[in-house]
Amino acid sequence: MNNSKKVFIRTYGCQMNVYDSELVSGILKKNDYSIVHDEGSADIVLVTGCTIREHADQRALGYIRQVLARKKTNSELIVGLLGCLGQRAGPEWQEMLPELDLILGPDAYRNIHFLLQNLPKKSFVEPENILEDYDDIPPLRKKGASAFIAISRGCDHNCTYCIVPFTRGRERSRPLNSIVKEVGNLVEEGFKEVTLLGQNVNSYSNNGDSFPDLLEKISEIRGIKRIRFTTSHPKDLSERLVGIIRDKENVCSHVHLPVQSGSDRVLKIMGREYTSDHYLRIIDLMKREIPDVCITTDIISGYPGETEEDHQKTLKLVEEVEYDSAFTFKYSPREGTPACTMGNNVPEPVKTSRLNEVSTLQRSITAKKNQEIIGKTVKVMIETVSKRSPEDMLGKTDGGKNVIVPNVKLNPGAFCSVRIVATSSQTLFGQLEEVLDDNGSMTN
Ligand code: 5AD
Ligand code: SF4
Repeated sequence: MNNSKKVFIRTYGCQMNVYDSELVSGILKKNDYSIVHDEGSADIVLVTGCTIREHADQRALGYIRQVLARKKTNSELIVGLLGCLGQRAGPEWQEMLPELDLILGPDAYRNIHFLLQNLPKKSFVEPENILEDYDDIPPLRKKGASAFIAISRGCDHNCTYCIVPFTRGRERSRPLNSIVKEVGNLVEEGFKEVTLLGQNVNSYSNNGDSFPDLLEKISEIRGIKRIRFTTSHPKDLSERLVGIIRDKENVCSHVHLPVQSGSDRVLKIMGREYTSDHYLRIIDLMKREIPDVCITTDIISGYPGETEEDHQKTLKLVEEVEYDSAFTFKYSPREGTPACTMGNNVPEPVKTSRLNEVSTLQRSITAKKNQEIIGKTVKVMIETVSKRSPEDMLGKTDGGKNVIVPNVKLNPGAFCSVRIVATSSQTLFGQLEEVLDDNGSMTN
């Protein structure tokens, strides 16, 4: 059946949610819907929502309320909630927002075109098919140089704070050959970089193939210039993986390794299954083996039972590792997780001041590390026109740092050498020295 309904998708949350929106776009496009980038022209607005922290819920809720208000003047408008938030908040939000037409969790997208055609029936789809890996479904990706590709879904770790195992189910890894084939197709389509996604890429396991096996195979694909991956769990990061990052030129020297806390006591309560010593040993190994490795992390402040002493241990670890950057969060209780009922809550003002201390310390470390790059020449892959000015382009270093290159016009995916001349808190500013491949076509 030909259906020309226009769909706009708004995404909140991590790269996996971005990828999920691309999967849903792929399914809908195949079923003759058109995907639009202008919300005002859409017949259907879908929100892929995140629920990792209370703040994420509130952001999506604010947007959904705004879209639902448009139903007053456009009664035909269909509004749906997808993603982790759809899975967790579904039943509760249906009561709160009865005008929501569709609510689906991350394992229930396969028949979304069918469900949309059977509205106004509301649909909560439980992830009854927990084996869903969408292996056969091509996502509809934005044109550009860089593509996301999910290698696994779900998570088998039981971090006591985390809602993800409840929203995304048990871990499932896609077959190695299928992922390798998909990367090959992406190269043919013109993509230069892939980011391999999984809640914990290091525990990828399919038919005896491990994550290092997969990474090695992908790195051998002709034409793939950069391979990134996220997220790594410190418990599962192997020496072999470190060796591959060191030896394979197209495997980027960036490891995002969430530590969460510097205190062994808190790590234990969090169910992280490693000690700070183990963590620091991996950091040490990476710094020794991988030249110019960039290490980033996630940290939670104010965990139930976290004492001032625990907090000081986190500060000490941050100082010792000298991360390139860090995402720092205030602990946010998520209903249904073990931590939510632990009691022993840290008072809100204490949480806030600890968070500020961690992020202020990290900001100063990031600034210092960025200062050290000034005057150096780095290899940058151009990604897009800068939001700051249409005359400037934005690219990334191998380590994943953003670089603004002013007054150039280069194609996304072009590699160039850039001399860094200045930095702001998160961004490097450079001057183009040389375009390094024929993808560049510099015009001024
Ligand atoms: N509260 C605060 N931060 C959280 N994260 C996950 N769950 C919570 C929570 N309940 C953080 C972790 C994780 C990142 C994606 O989000 O640091 O690594
Ligand atoms: Fe991503 Fe976790 Fe948010 Fe789900 S809850 S979108 S997995 S960050």
